[in-house]
Amino acid sequence: MTWRATVLTLFPDMFPGTLGQALAGRALEAGIWRLEARDIRAHSADRHGRVDDTPFGGGAGMVLRPDVVDAAIAAENDGRRLIYLTPRGRRLTQADAAELAAGPGVVLLCGRYEGIDQRVIEARQAEEISVGDYVLSGGELPAMVLLDSCVRLLPGTMGAAESAEEESFSGSLLEYPHYTRPAEWQGRAVPPVLLSGNHAAIAAWRRGEAERITRDRRPDLWAAHTAQVAPAVPMP
Ligand SMILES: C[S@@+](CC[C@H](N)C(=O)[O-])C[C@H]1O[C@@H](n2cnc3c(N)ncnc32)[C@H](O)[C@@H]1O
Repeated sequence: MTWRATVLTLFPDMFPGTLGQALAGRALEAGIWRLEARDIRAHSADRHGRVDDTPFGGGAGMVLRPDVVDAAIAAENDGRRLIYLTPRGRRLTQADAAELAAGPGVVLLCGRYEGIDQRVIEARQAEEISVGDYVLSGGELPAMVLLDSCVRLLPGTMGAAESAEEESFSGSLLEYPHYTRPAEWQGRAVPPVLLSGNHAAIAAWRRGEAERITRDRRPDLWAAHTAQVAPAVPMP
């Protein structure tokens, strides 16, 4: 069955955007996945098409109304997971992408302005997911980030030229560095072991580099990795 993504947005013309190109675009064309961008504004009951209002309690900006967003969600409610992209959500992980890619698809809700009235998020039990600790002006780029992370894992999307097997976050380590021709460039030589043809030595070098990079750059991942490799012995 075709993996299906529905994006609820005030800016449907932003899609497919980057998702219509390269790997994701080829998969879209091949029918491996389907993308529908739905205009939240189509569900406004207001003759001026208003979808937002001022925040209760005062403050700057506007908030998307719960009745309008609820109607937009109701039109797509078919059992797929509903995700609201928000900086307040838990951080998107590779495990999320793999889990979503293994399901039937996803419905993504994009906020704008100050965000969406919290009552509809709760009433519809939307999962709240963030793409990182920074604030963007809308949920459309985060939706594209999430979709790209899923689509590249769908069976048939990646050819032999691309592989998710040893990538960063597919295991507990970041990936080792890559090199290609020329063997020497601007006085910088490729690590000699990579030219040795010794597969065991190459694998050991790559493993060592993955460990070094993870330890140096991401102490959080390194701590989880070492706990996994050598689980703490419970106190008697
Ligand atoms: C300007 S932001 C609202 C930020 C919100 N007032 C806050 O401080 O958390 C507007 C919309 O962009 C989206 N957005 C912005 N940054 C995001 C992030 N890091 N991850 C996911 N969505 C984000 C959300 O959909 C949000 O409702």
